[in-house]
Amino acid sequence: MPDSHLLEAATAADYRYWINAGAERVATRVAAATGPFTGVTPAELEPVVGAIDLDRPLGDPAAALDELDRVYLRDAVYFHHPRYLAHLNCPVVIPALLGEAVLSGVNSSLDTWDQSAGGTLIERRLIDWTARRIGFGDDADGVFTSGGTQSNLQGLLLARDEAVCRAGGHAPSVLAKLRILASECSHFSVVKAARVMGLGDEAVISVPCDQLRQMRTSALAGQLAQIKRNGLIPMAVVATAGTTDFGSIDPLPAISGLCASAGVWLHVDAAYGCGLLASTRRRHLLAGIEYADSVTVDYHKSFFQPVSSSALIVRDRRTLSHVTYHADYLNPEASAQRRIPNQVDKSLQTTRRFDALKLWLTLRVMGADGVGELFDEVVDLAAATWDALDADPRFEVVVRPQLSTLVFRYRPGEQAISAELCDRANLYAREALAASGAAMVAGTVVDGRHYLKFTLLNPRTALEDTATVLDLLAGHAQVFLGESSQVPDIPEPAYA
Ligand SMILES: Cc1ncc(COP(=O)(O)O)c(C=O)c1O
Repeated sequence: MPDSHLLEAATAADYRYWINAGAERVATRVAAATGPFTGVTPAELEPVVGAIDLDRPLGDPAAALDELDRVYLRDAVYFHHPRYLAHLNCPVVIPALLGEAVLSGVNSSLDTWDQSAGGTLIERRLIDWTARRIGFGDDADGVFTSGGTQSNLQGLLLARDEAVCRAGGHAPSVLAKLRILASECSHFSVVKAARVMGLGDEAVISVPCDQLRQMRTSALAGQLAQIKRNGLIPMAVVATAGTTDFGSIDPLPAISGLCASAGVWLHVDAAYGCGLLASTRRRHLLAGIEYADSVTVDYHKSFFQPVSSSALIVRDRRTLSHVTYHADYLNPEASAQRRIPNQVDKSLQTTRRFDALKLWLTLRVMGADGVGELFDEVVDLAAATWDALDADPRFEVVVRPQLSTLVFRYRPGEQAISAELCDRANLYAREALAASGAAMVAGTVVDGRHYLKFTLLNPRTALEDTATVLDLLAGHAQVFLGESSQVPDIPEPAYA
């Protein structure tokens, strides 16, 4: 009977049982993982997934879980493993997972009060909490979003509409003049946002960075002046507090000063660096963020939250009205007059997950200091790993990190190998390492050359782990270069 699968009073016991059974499967895999990945290839997995006949249901959740174990859980990438060092994915805290289970079970939708009731108030408290940590005043507001890409889009959309209002309307001639300034190390979602808004890639002006990969403020000042001389409109400056590759934080006080004197919207993309808002030791690195007009925070990067969990926070709640639309069936103006709280007036989405609940339970169980301490630990580890890399003749490392990423490449000093061969050795090392399942690292391009990247977001990763992964990478690179016939074994981890 299909209706036996609906969650209702009569099936509450089934719900309890099967959610536990699902958690049991995940717990078993998490406990047993000997590496972050099995190294499975798309060619191996595609036929397994492709062979499932979606029109022939199994009927039984236990059978479906057995099948899921085979098609997904067995070969998934596990971010909790101490040798997962690749992208901006954090291990997640259990209170947030508890929130995830509760929010999907109740399934509130955060667009209106009549679909969420207290959920709306909880989200509002967390927005206010974050705004206070940023240093915004009583006029601040914001909304949860699906991620940094959406938060950046919404921040820039508000900036565009503020600029357009000042310039007298949405005429094509005005839109064509709008310019966004972001550093060369800013996230690509800034360019995507310009595309989505119909402004085109050419609306985004790339501001050069210095050696530390922070935006050069003298260059920003020059470009702002140039834009004005050319009769164009600087619509927004995007400062990044934690660049994706280098973790560098743009000089926020100087940038905010330039924005204030030029009358330009300042959006701070703190998708990665927002964890500093909870840090007791490093909050000062975000000094100046309080002068922003809008801020992106990704709790699913540095607050140890499961995807998705992000927010856009604005200094002045009035600016959020650019995304307000009153629909008769949902949020008529009359309900605003009756002061019934709703979040859809502030959001690009309509139906929206109650992601805020995860952060709520996290703060209620561990507190902000607990989250900040975890983030501080990974920043400490990055500093220690930088020292090790800097002293290691097998590698060159680009920049001492402010946060928890390290960009480096295998480049043994005593050998004369070409830059191209070195590129290929590093590309090979990264792929071979992932295929072995022993560890995962990321890759990026710096000044046209291929580099490797550690993104350290796991407080359980120790200096011994990063040292082991460096040995493995060097071993794979040496095999590629024909200097060695095999990579070293992984030593038994201290935490085993
Ligand atoms: C600095 C920065 N901004 C924005 C984003 C986009 O965030 P999301 O992946 O949550 O959309 C990222 C993702 O890595 C990022 O590093």
